[in-house]
Amino acid sequence: MHCSWKAVILLALASIAIQYTAIRTLTSKPFQLCQLPSPQNCGLGGADTDAPFERAAGCEDYPLFSFNASRKTHILVLATTRSGSSFMGQLLNQHQDVFYLFEPLYHIQTTLIPRLFHSRNMADRRVMLGASRDLLRSLYGCDLYFLESYIKPPPSNHTTDKLFRAGASRALCQPPVCNAFDPADINVEEGDCMKKCAALNLTLAAEACREKRHVAIKIVRVPEIGDLRALVEDPRLNVKVIQLVRDPRGILSSRIETFRDTYRLWRIWRATGRRPYNLDLSQLTVVCEDFFSSVSTAFSHPYWLKGKYLLVRYEDLARNPLLKTKEIYEFLGLPVDKKVEEWIHANTRGSSEPSAKHKFGTVRDSAANAESWRLKLSYDMVEYMQSVCHKALRQLGYRAARSAAELKNMSLSLVQDRTFVPPS
Ligand SMILES: *[C@@H]1O[C@H](CO)[C@@H](O)[C@H](O)[C@H]1NC(C)=O
Ligand SMILES: *[C@@H]1O[C@H](CO)[C@@H](O)[C@H](O)[C@H]1NC(C)=O
Ligand SMILES: *[C@@H]1O[C@H](CO)[C@@H](O)[C@H](O)[C@H]1NC(C)=O
Ligand SMILES: *[C@@H]1O[C@H](CO)[C@@H](O)[C@H](O)[C@H]1NC(C)=O
Repeated sequence: MHCSWKAVILLALASIAIQYTAIRTLTSKPFQLCQLPSPQNCGLGGADTDAPFERAAGCEDYPLFSFNASRKTHILVLATTRSGSSFMGQLLNQHQDVFYLFEPLYHIQTTLIPRLFHSRNMADRRVMLGASRDLLRSLYGCDLYFLESYIKPPPSNHTTDKLFRAGASRALCQPPVCNAFDPADINVEEGDCMKKCAALNLTLAAEACREKRHVAIKIVRVPEIGDLRALVEDPRLNVKVIQLVRDPRGILSSRIETFRDTYRLWRIWRATGRRPYNLDLSQLTVVCEDFFSSVSTAFSHPYWLKGKYLLVRYEDLARNPLLKTKEIYEFLGLPVDKKVEEWIHANTRGSSEPSAKHKFGTVRDSAANAESWRLKLSYDMVEYMQSVCHKALRQLGYRAARSAAELKNMSLSLVQDRTFVPPS
């Protein structure tokens, strides 16, 4: 890199920032300018009138200044199945200061209340969401024993080999939790980790969690952001939500390939060109409704989401992984570390790299494949999806294809450029 005048100015700015931080920390005034869930708390002294400039600077232009460096960030990736959430999760998992868990709510669904998750009954739904929030709250506090009551069979001596997708968490494949790999090995495969590491010692896992500066959890079993309000507002936590969305037509295509039984009728439609009369339409309409209401909530700019919500479209991430990742980390108030960048370089170059081993593989679903659904779905399926999901598609900037030719013409993008203004 050249040492240009820009670099010099950046350095100077950085050093001012550090001094500013140091001075702030020494004063007795509260440092967490944007943490408290009230717009009035954004000013330095809490008063609206006396510090308009600092308020703007502290809360919008320089998000890093409002970050209490000694405070844990509780990162929540709110996603749905086959929306690229494994990929998103990896971008956090690879960070050296992050303890990452892959969908712990799976255990609530399978063990405690298998049917509640798809229940339309409000009481059932409340029970399920309450249990989910309690579990998340405990996990953010690194209390992994809390999970034990949901694991079948129950762990004995705080040890289990049944933690869902444990191998997807880098911290659980590394010392002190597991000594099977060289700590320098950055690309431990999930399957290898499951095979080579002994049963998971939850005491050690909790220790590993406490050692990391931040905790990130990916979930696909909470319908919308409003369901997380109690968690976001919890003063003991410092939650930042990244909502990951994807073109519902892409989600459908991906689910048809992955969940062959559940989506059997859709496959029949695709193969025969005729829509089965008993097709369960709600499998996709629910996704669109949840996206729409969640994003509507977030962009109504409620005070409780101020500075705590970021909307990410999978397609943007797939097209421009490094740039988007930087935006995401900026939102989190953390620096992107080398490991994350290395992982992006190693995993987003081509779509057909041989390392895509199993159906939840991250690589297989990355960059070049984000829009491949256009070649896999028939036009009438797409047309149908466009009619039941039109509100969500329009809101999220996904264009409808108006003919079969338009659908298959890959040089005509169906993803519109959009900037989503986060709640601030
Ligand atoms: C930062 O957060 C930590 C942990 O929550 C807290 O103990 C500390 O007082 C905070 N620092 C400031 C300056 O607010
Ligand atoms: C739990 O640990 C104790 C002491 O190490 C041992 O005696 C016991 O057999 C263990 N229980 C199981 C179910 O492994
Ligand atoms: C799990 O790790 C803890 C802490 O190192 C240790 O005390 C405990 O004996 C381990 N449990 C088992 C079952 O090995
Ligand atoms: C495909 O889309 C591009 C971009 O809009 C357009 O220029 C081109 O003519 C289209 N090709 C066909 C075969 O429709």
